Amino acid sequence: MVIPTPPVLISERQIQRKVGRLAARISADYGAVDDLLMVGVLKGAFIFLADLSRRLAIPRRVDFMALSTYGDGTTTGAVRLIMDLRTDIRGKHVLVVEDIVDTGHTLAYLMKTLAAREPASLACCALLRKLDRKKVDVDIDYLGFDIPDVWVVGYGLDCADQHRTLPYIGTVAPGST
Ligand code: IMP
Ligand code: MG
Repeated sequence: MVIPTPPVLISERQIQRKVGRLAARISADYGAVDDLLMVGVLKGAFIFLADLSRRLAIPRRVDFMALSTYGDGTTTGAVRLIMDLRTDIRGKHVLVVEDIVDTGHTLAYLMKTLAAREPASLACCALLRKLDRKKVDVDIDYLGFDIPDVWVVGYGLDCADQHRTLPYIGTVAPGST
């Protein structure tokens, strides 16, 4: 089977530079915190979380959650929790790490769910945001790139589970896999 190579939207070099800058900001902001818990959202954030966490200059732990949207998700916005944290976050400093904020439903649900568990602080870092698609207002404390409304793959992101391990962010036409 031959899978076409997606054209580059954001290069590996641009991503790595941005990850370095985000890591520096986060390290500065959390300098006084001795135990930051980074929460990666599976599957899409696994590579971003791996790179970002290794470039922080502060003590940190990682945990994961998995979420899924009902149906195509973009119409109803209903989000389902597939896998929860192993850690009790009450009184902890929590940083959610997401691959992409599209309508905002997923991140809004996640932030609400985690806030109810009374962490000491709760913030989020997203590599990408599709501004045009915003349906729900959700603050992103650390953002990598704003992108146009195109389907992107690579660096953890997929199209029908393809292309996740590309080192760059590429674009695919809808229905192309
Ligand atoms: P939201 O709830 O509409 O903000 O959707 C966020 C989720 O949809 C992300 O965490 C991704 O899993 C997925 N998603 C949205 N846009 C893309 C894309 O262009 N490529 C890959 N996954 C995407
Ligand atoms: Mg995601």
